[in-house]
Amino acid sequence: MAQILVIGGGLIGCGWAAAFAGAGHDVAVVDPDALVADRLEQTWQAAQPVMVALGTMREKTTAPRHVLNVDQAPCADLVQEALPEDLTLKHNVLAELEPLIGKTTPIASSSSGFTPDMIASGLTNPDRLFIAHPCNPPYLMPTVELVGQSNTLPSILDDAEAIYAAMGKTVLRMAKPMRGHLVNRLQFALWREAVHLVATGAATMADVENAISEGLAPRWCLMGPGGVFHLSGGDAGMAGYIEALGPATTSLWNDLGTPNLVTAAKVLTEGMTEVDPRSVAEITTARDAALPKVMRALKPIKENYRKQGE
Ligand SMILES: NC(=O)c1ccc[n+]([C@@H]2O[C@H](COP(=O)([O-])OP(=O)(O)OC[C@H]3O[C@@H](n4cnc5c(N)ncnc54)[C@H](O)[C@@H]3O)[C@@H](O)[C@H]2O)c1
Repeated sequence: MAQILVIGGGLIGCGWAAAFAGAGHDVAVVDPDALVADRLEQTWQAAQPVMVALGTMREKTTAPRHVLNVDQAPCADLVQEALPEDLTLKHNVLAELEPLIGKTTPIASSSSGFTPDMIASGLTNPDRLFIAHPCNPPYLMPTVELVGQSNTLPSILDDAEAIYAAMGKTVLRMAKPMRGHLVNRLQFALWREAVHLVATGAATMADVENAISEGLAPRWCLMGPGGVFHLSGGDAGMAGYIEALGPATTSLWNDLGTPNLVTAAKVLTEGMTEVDPRSVAEITTARDAALPKVMRALKPIKENYRKQGE
């Protein structure tokens, strides 16, 4: 059991807190907002059945607790920063925190968009900072992306990988920091074209949602885009695909859109209400109930898929 200090008790901080607590760690969440106590309790209640269904919940656990000030939290083995995506705020809060924690205590930032170098630049001991980026919600989604910066000690990343892997996470280590990391860069590329299609009226939001969940997601449960295109080129696989369709694909890339998310806000908001009129809370509950079943069912299928034809 490790002592985990989560900084910021929003959507991701509470989700992380539940994930760490479910894995048997002792978790304190620091947030000056008194309402976080309720959000943390609600997240913990929602997360437990999910982690039980996923098989990631330990038998002996302690509920994560909210503290208003870092003085009220014990020394940490790991700090998981989940502050708003505001670089100045992250710098200021981490600068205040640094003298209160051990000199080598690892600091993992949840930032979706900043590189670890951008966040570490204000620290006295920057070599303990890295990105550990979850998908939302951290108690449900399996990936954690680990990204070191130029000064991050390799041993810090190895130790962090062991902690997240022991929580049942699939740890992806990025060889080189890039804004947005891996999962979001891929997701945002797709989201950009989805927004372009809806904003130009080429497709409805419902068409786009179905194109992804019915057209792309089934194969993506087993393979990524490399695998999909490897099977599109006949017996020659990827090489055959590139020979036959390489120029056409490159030409289509040049035709992809660069929409403005702000001007598209109305059509996206209305489109989403048409696709799923339930409240965000209702959809969240439905997702938390359904996705662990999908992931559990997929696990043996994926293992078998790899073995077939060997
Ligand atoms: N929202 C997502 O889907 C998602 C997914 C993965 C990673 N992230 C990243 O996680 C981080 C947090 O995102 P979020 O969506 O949870 O944000 P959020 O706005 O929901 O939560 C931020 C929390 O930080 C608290 N906070 C503000 N100032 C503070 C301070 N001085 N000390 C302690 N707490 C303070 C706020 O009260 C709030 O509860 C961001 O860096 C974001 O990029 C977000």
